[in-house]
Amino acid sequence: MSKGTTTTYLAPAKINLSLRVTGKRDDGYHNVDILMAKLDLTDSLDFHNSRTTTLQCDMPGVPTDESNLVIKAVREFEKAYGRKAKQKITLTKNIPHGAGLGGGSADAAITLRACNDIIGTNYSDEELSTMAAALGSDVPFFLNPVISRCTGRGEIVTPEPELAEWSSPIVLLKPQFAVSTPSAYKLLRGAHRIKGVNYNPQVIDGIKLVNELERAVFTKFPVLGFTKMWLLGQPGVRAALMCGSGSTLFALTETPEQALAVAEAARAELDPTLWSYCGRVNPQ
Ligand code: C5P
Repeated sequence: MSKGTTTTYLAPAKINLSLRVTGKRDDGYHNVDILMAKLDLTDSLDFHNSRTTTLQCDMPGVPTDESNLVIKAVREFEKAYGRKAKQKITLTKNIPHGAGLGGGSADAAITLRACNDIIGTNYSDEELSTMAAALGSDVPFFLNPVISRCTGRGEIVTPEPELAEWSSPIVLLKPQFAVSTPSAYKLLRGAHRIKGVNYNPQVIDGIKLVNELERAVFTKFPVLGFTKMWLLGQPGVRAALMCGSGSTLFALTETPEQALAVAEAARAELDPTLWSYCGRVNPQ
């Protein structure tokens, strides 16, 4: 690549169509069984060869120092490479933070891919996956974000070819507050069911949608449970669930127009400050 070239990569958000917690581990993590799918909501990352590695981000409050997963990904890549990657990275954020949408994990995975492509190191997917798993449980999925079953602590990714062409219109709603992943798992102890909130699996096109972190997160933030029930009552909504560890909720609709109508109704009837996104899950 010539010195002046900027290469742009898109990092997609994800939802968990299903998230089951199958046990607590000795290393502080939980074993999980997740069905993960990407969305057409993306962050964008520009990479430009430079004298040192720097990160700029358009979203206020996002750290651009060594604590950002993008810089951590560069450092993880450099550990394997044995030399400096020297990239000027410009991150344009569209995926909200603390939302359960995997934005930081996606940015990290794409950074590993970009460094591998731009520097020409030709690390295999397996080698990149080992680097990705060191950065976070969700990061390996984003190296090849086809609908996949994720097990272990989430880092063992197995594509689900029979769902490869499945897709659906989706609406996302996120309140102003964020939920951190560690806090969601911690809340599992002492969690209870809120009366009137339905936690049961919902079966759509043969896919069993369920999120076992809902019980934990709804106990602390009951408004999310009530919003899920409101979503389930909206015209055209086929299923509604919390995304990962929250605070975003999603609803699958019959048509894109219904997704837009749900987002408008949510701001009118529930909370005018809600963030929303209407698009597709598993865009083809
Ligand atoms: O792997 P990641 O850095 O995303 O995990 C953040 C935190 O979320 C972990 O430190 C742990 O507290 C919790 N976690 C968990 N079980 C998982 C994934 C995450 O308990 N499978």
